[in-house]
Amino acid sequence: IISSVHGVLALDSRGNPTVKVIAKTKAGVGVGIAPSGASKSSKEAIEKRDGGRGWGGMGVNQALSNVNTIVAPRLIGLDSRKQSLIDGVLIEIDGTPNKSRLGGNVTTATSIAVAKAAAASSGVELYEYLGGPGAKVLPTPLMNVINGGVHAGNNLAFQEFIIIPAGAPTFTEAMRMAVEVYKSLKSYLSDKYGKTSTNVGDEGGYAPPMNEVREPLEALRAAIKAAGYELGSDFFLGIDAASSEFYDPEKKAYRVDGKLYDPGSLLDLYVQLVDEFSIAYLEDPFHEEDLQHFSEITAKLGSRVLIVGDDLYATNVKYLQEGIKARATNGALVKVNQVGTLTETLDYIRVARNAGIRPVISHRSGDTEDPFIADLAVAVGAGVIKTGAPARSERLAKYNRLLEIEDSLGPMATYAGREPFITRA
Ligand code: PGA
Ligand code: ZN
Repeated sequence: IISSVHGVLALDSRGNPTVKVIAKTKAGVGVGIAPSGASKSSKEAIEKRDGGRGWGGMGVNQALSNVNTIVAPRLIGLDSRKQSLIDGVLIEIDGTPNKSRLGGNVTTATSIAVAKAAAASSGVELYEYLGGPGAKVLPTPLMNVINGGVHAGNNLAFQEFIIIPAGAPTFTEAMRMAVEVYKSLKSYLSDKYGKTSTNVGDEGGYAPPMNEVREPLEALRAAIKAAGYELGSDFFLGIDAASSEFYDPEKKAYRVDGKLYDPGSLLDLYVQLVDEFSIAYLEDPFHEEDLQHFSEITAKLGSRVLIVGDDLYATNVKYLQEGIKARATNGALVKVNQVGTLTETLDYIRVARNAGIRPVISHRSGDTEDPFIADLAVAVGAGVIKTGAPARSERLAKYNRLLEIEDSLGPMATYAGREPFITRA
């Protein structure tokens, strides 16, 4: 039974205020912290922000007051293990389609805090509490080791250039291989672009002064080789284009490498890059309203590439169902704070699964020390997690938690490896 719910100020990895919620029962405590995106979808839950001068308008005093004066009195006395009841109360108090009254930051942190308090009260690990005894698949990490787009101060149109250590036998070995490549990438960049090129962006990847989207892919290919691994078997590459950010709605075209691409020529570019660089993962290749070209690229590449909707779906069943109807993707990104509660997130994962769509559990570019998504990925057996480079502690919090889970599962643990990826092999 929940005995207290308290909101307290925390800061995210960009130094912006965010909401931390501490939920207690007699037997356990749970802490949830809301992350925050930069390349947000227009379909996401709205964060409650104070505006005005302090914190550059990003203050969360109103949000914290919502936790302490509106949410807490309604949740105290309820059974922490009844997650859908509790999330239902949050949804009912909020009463809007996008959590704009309470704030998605309020509902996200509260929902996560309650789940953790329930797990602690039950005396089991969070991934077991959420996933049951069958939860033992460690996800293959999608590691964003070169940052572009709005996550970095360079001219790369695509936001994320990703290495995927799918050929590793275990999660721990996958981390070792990825870290070796991350380090060999640092030498490659430093030699070719100078030492300022190894400063890191929002998700811990390097942010080199590159101008064309082929350059980071060439760098990743070289770094994988230099570390002694083979692209196409040990590693695959991935891209999150986050293309809503470089779409020009007036020209109905995309700005890439200083040129304008209509959707058809952008699709051709993706096909070339997929073939040339063993790309097995492609997220948001087209802008968030363009189901039609998502469907086209999935028809063309879906048998060999995971084509994933992030801004397209915003972790919302309503948009996912439109995508399912249009056969728009074969993967769906999952970010709890895009929809605002754990219950709605789990529903979304279930709907995706039933349609044969792979859920991909994800961090945000503004994230925190909360490792919640590591447990979530194992709990639902997602098989894939996207949580940045092996750098910056808000990213490592998730990887370190997964290392711990693999250790605690011992010989029961399995690593998803290549299974989530449809490869040509
Ligand atoms: P965001 O980016 O957290 O800034 O929205 C992450 C992503 O697009 O996957
Ligand atoms: Zn994305």
